[in-house]
Amino acid sequence: MCGIVGYVGHSAGRVNTGHNALDVVLEGLRRLEYRGYDSAGIAVVADGTISSRKKSGKLNNLIAELEASPLPESVTGIGHTRWATHGGPTDQNAHPHLADDGKLALIHNGIIENFAELKLDLLGKGVEFRSETDTEVAAALLGDIYRNQLHGDHSTGGLTKAMQLACQRLEGAFTLLAVHADQPDVVVAARRNSPLVVGLGEGENFLGSDVSGFIDYTRRAVELGQDQIVTITADSVEITDFYGAPAEGKEYKVDWDPASAEKGGFPSFMEKEIHDQPDAVLQTLLGRSDIHGRLTLDELRIDPELLKSVDKIIVLACGTSAYAGQVAKYAIERWCRIPTEVELSHEFRYRDPIVDENTLIVSISQSGETMDTLMAVRYAKEQGAKTVSICNTNGSTIPRESDAVLYTHAGPEIAVASTKAFLAQITAAYLLGLYLAQLRGNKFQGEIKDILADLGKIPAKIQQILDNEGQIKELGAAMADAKSVLFLGRHVGFPVAMEGALKLKELAYIHAEGFAAGELKHGPIALIEEGQPVFVVVPSPRGRDSLHAKVVSNIQEVRARGAKTIVIAEEGDEAVQAYAEHVFYIPETPTLLAPLLSTVPLQIFALALASAKGYDVDQPRNLAKSVTVE
Ligand code: AGP
Repeated sequence: MCGIVGYVGHSAGRVNTGHNALDVVLEGLRRLEYRGYDSAGIAVVADGTISSRKKSGKLNNLIAELEASPLPESVTGIGHTRWATHGGPTDQNAHPHLADDGKLALIHNGIIENFAELKLDLLGKGVEFRSETDTEVAAALLGDIYRNQLHGDHSTGGLTKAMQLACQRLEGAFTLLAVHADQPDVVVAARRNSPLVVGLGEGENFLGSDVSGFIDYTRRAVELGQDQIVTITADSVEITDFYGAPAEGKEYKVDWDPASAEKGGFPSFMEKEIHDQPDAVLQTLLGRSDIHGRLTLDELRIDPELLKSVDKIIVLACGTSAYAGQVAKYAIERWCRIPTEVELSHEFRYRDPIVDENTLIVSISQSGETMDTLMAVRYAKEQGAKTVSICNTNGSTIPRESDAVLYTHAGPEIAVASTKAFLAQITAAYLLGLYLAQLRGNKFQGEIKDILADLGKIPAKIQQILDNEGQIKELGAAMADAKSVLFLGRHVGFPVAMEGALKLKELAYIHAEGFAAGELKHGPIALIEEGQPVFVVVPSPRGRDSLHAKVVSNIQEVRARGAKTIVIAEEGDEAVQAYAEHVFYIPETPTLLAPLLSTVPLQIFALALASAKGYDVDQPRNLAKSVTVE
């Protein structure tokens, strides 16, 4: 999830009558920096050439670079803040990437799934690559088409035509912006499965990954559809599909203030990130399997033979990330038949654990900087274990010190309480489990393909829950005075109950506790008194080994003692209605994947209750986004 800005203004001959492209692009990048801050870069077209600067680290590093080495005045420019996916956060991997002998510059947000085969083809044509990124491959493809297929068509539209032809060959998710020295008054962009909006000015036009990119200059925006190309000049905006057929965008007026624009129009990053979850799961799945359902985890650089010899998996994590590990345990053991333990990082190395060269350590960390987890990984490595990091922050310490990494592509998670990273972590852990099952032959390819197909349906199902969030929001607001809320779940619903309780603790500062539903009668049920709110995550009633009946009887146990039961159940499950004050339905999905759905109402509930109490849901008291002390 990167920040992208494009601009074309007016120049009367050599006089710049619009804004300076550099100023507009930098202002836009500053507002978009929350979308990614691993590196930043900018390219402008001036005096028949492309001039560009790029720098790893935050935007201020680029600004310092520009002060030391200024760009020429220009009315045409593009800029990018990076959230690294392919390739670490280095100067070399920063965007823009150049092609066509430095006459073309490209920036990109998303994942080009078929970049490897395109790169091989281009290498065969003698193209040299300087970075590890899929973006540079897209730039080289665009340059190759413009130069060699269109013979450097200088007439207006040459770059547009080249972009159309390039996009016909790209697979995956991408927003692309390109400029070319031959066409100094044009920016051409394309989008598929990745955001892009046009800003309409007077004698100038803008592009942005969202309206924050240009909200300081115009509030007239045009929303683009899937698989569209847009060509902007100072006075025109032309939209086509990938084959050149004219297309329409949808114009609208931006009524957000700049601050809320950075939150996508939501009142908090927390709410924005809950609504980012369909995309977080989608982006984490993208590019990791082929059309045959074979997992292609390129970045998982551990010798397959070593992975085949693994006889135990230990998941190391803290907090929400540990609950993601607990969800993953059920799937990994079911699919791979490898004993899988989930350990709290801060407990792990003090219990003299049994670890050897056949142990696979899977650390899960959004920040990649959690000291407890880092120290546990180091300890496990000393014992000879192989280590894989599931992490959301490219280039952070834990993946750097691990033998292999599987990045989640949730984009920057700004709110301290984790939501989209949690779902992305579960998704990545499922991919790891399926990869191990594929490697070790525990699952037929067809079975893996079916599970991937079910996973592919999850983003739309999460969106369905979000589209119907009103009821759970109202309940959260209505329960602002609750003093304690309990959460019950069984099987994969148990870690979901734990995570639901943690969200409520973190955001609303009230006592909340998650239990295994079967554990209640072994003591905790003494807590139940008249009116005690109890959430119950109910498994699907479908399937032979359903725990549905047992959980329904757990609901009855607490209701008999006066509990106010709030049930999360699968669409169509009417049996629970007799025992629930409130039922919130989630779409049907296989049991092992259900946590990706059943968690969402609990997140929304915690957010609504905390908001009703007037708390800062992005930066709750006493908490830090990354706990870098033991
Ligand atoms: C999540 O809502 C919490 N902020 C916290 O439990 C967090 O998950 C934990 O500190 C681990 O952080 P990490 O994923 O960055 O390692």
